[in-house]
Amino acid sequence: MQNILIFAHRGSKGTHPENTMAAFQKAAEIGAEGIEFDVHLSSDGELVIIHDETLDRTTTLTGYVKDHSAQKLKTADAGSKFSNEFLGERIPFLTDVFDWAKGNALLMNVEIKTDKLAYEGIEQKIIDSIRQYGMENRVILSSFNHQSIEKVKMLAPDLERALLFEGLPENFEEILRNKKELGFHPDKNSLTPAVKEKAKKLGYKIRPWVANDEADIVRLAELGVDVIMTDFPERAIKILKAWRSHG
Ligand code: G3P
Ligand code: CA
Repeated sequence: MQNILIFAHRGSKGTHPENTMAAFQKAAEIGAEGIEFDVHLSSDGELVIIHDETLDRTTTLTGYVKDHSAQKLKTADAGSKFSNEFLGERIPFLTDVFDWAKGNALLMNVEIKTDKLAYEGIEQKIIDSIRQYGMENRVILSSFNHQSIEKVKMLAPDLERALLFEGLPENFEEILRNKKELGFHPDKNSLTPAVKEKAKKLGYKIRPWVANDEADIVRLAELGVDVIMTDFPERAIKILKAWRSHG
């Protein structure tokens, strides 16, 4: 039976504040094989782990991430909006995650958030950090902005890359064929058996996002995906275990 890995989407987003060390720590504790997180740039060029371009939804600061220095961002609380239980949780930086990752074997899907803002030079900064920490074999770089993935390919051809899609264009097969990347990350609803077959034939690893309920998780497992990204990794591990034992 194919080994399907569980990646904790934005960490254990369903039970912990998204994109925080608490969420990543939980994913490691419960035995997820990987974590997914999002990267932006601060005003002084530091790599910041947060989902939105703005701070308002998930932290106690307001405004754009890009308009605040790293020092200022470090004063934000990124836990209390999820629950007071997580009061004091900080916005992590990529260096925090890589420092922590030295103590475990988790794979890391680093999403480069250049689909709304350009973040000049973010690709090179991420690559430099990966090299500095020796994380080359632990990371998968993905983006909805396929030009960012092209840049990574030029700057660091040895690093694993993946193409993110929300909905599929009619010519997605042509895109996959031309880009010759390794990872195909469609939204879960776009991944039909026919789409999966086409991507597999082109040699792609298939890592759909985001499956949280049992029906979706089982459907994707039966489809033979490589990774299931989920906000509830603990639940997904249990569902997969039960599915394997009945399979
Ligand atoms: O990488 C998959 C998924 O994280 C993309 O969507 O909005 O959660 O970053 P989003
Ligand atoms: Ca993401």
